[in-house]
Amino acid sequence: MKNTPPSIIALDGPAASGKSTVGRRLADSLGFLFFDTGIMYRAVTWIALEHDMNLHDETAITELAQNAQIDIRQPTQNDGRACDVVIGGKDVTWDMRSGNVDANVSVVSAYAGVRKALSEQQRRIGMRGRVVMVGRDIGTVVLPEADLKLYMDASAEERARRRYKEIVDRGEAADYDEILKKMIERDRLDSTRAVAPLRPADDAVILDTDTMNEEQVYTHILEMCK
Ligand code: DC
Repeated sequence: MKNTPPSIIALDGPAASGKSTVGRRLADSLGFLFFDTGIMYRAVTWIALEHDMNLHDETAITELAQNAQIDIRQPTQNDGRACDVVIGGKDVTWDMRSGNVDANVSVVSAYAGVRKALSEQQRRIGMRGRVVMVGRDIGTVVLPEADLKLYMDASAEERARRRYKEIVDRGEAADYDEILKKMIERDRLDSTRAVAPLRPADDAVILDTDTMNEEQVYTHILEMCK
């Protein structure tokens, strides 16, 4: 890490590690753009499912990722969302977080062509600076020159508990065991794929959120930014 305050902050980690919540707070307090790259992979998956596309047709899914019109706008509702995600005029902010997208997003995000199309856009935005970019491969692939690289982790059980609470708090039904099983499977797929697998960059600061609560992690990162 350099002595000047960081302008490009990469924040990676597995599902429900708390990176989006912390990243959002951090971006707000620094006056930086918050960019959750998972939205892009989810949006492509959502469109493919909506159009009954064959998710195993790599060429078609790659073309979709190259051409998808994903609109990310200021939030219009105060229901916990960081932004509105609009596709074809439809607000898909929560649809994109459905169990069906969760179960299929790892297949879509393993395709090299999909990753290339989306990470080029992410890199273009990230290189402008004053950004907290959240994902799986930001410190390793998208922005390897980031001034500060963070990797947030937690046990699968703790992360499944958080996801369960998030769904129940939205007033929807949830099954903890099912969430845990799917989370372990998604971790496995995300960390074993050939292209840009989930892993901390060699120079990343690793934060274990099993032993630190959100406030402690946030304060610790803010300290590092000063
Ligand atoms: O952070 P999330 O759960 O919303 O991400 C959804 C999926 O997108 C995740 O299972 C893996 C993929 N993803 C990725 O491969 N690379 C990123 N930079 C961000 C997300």
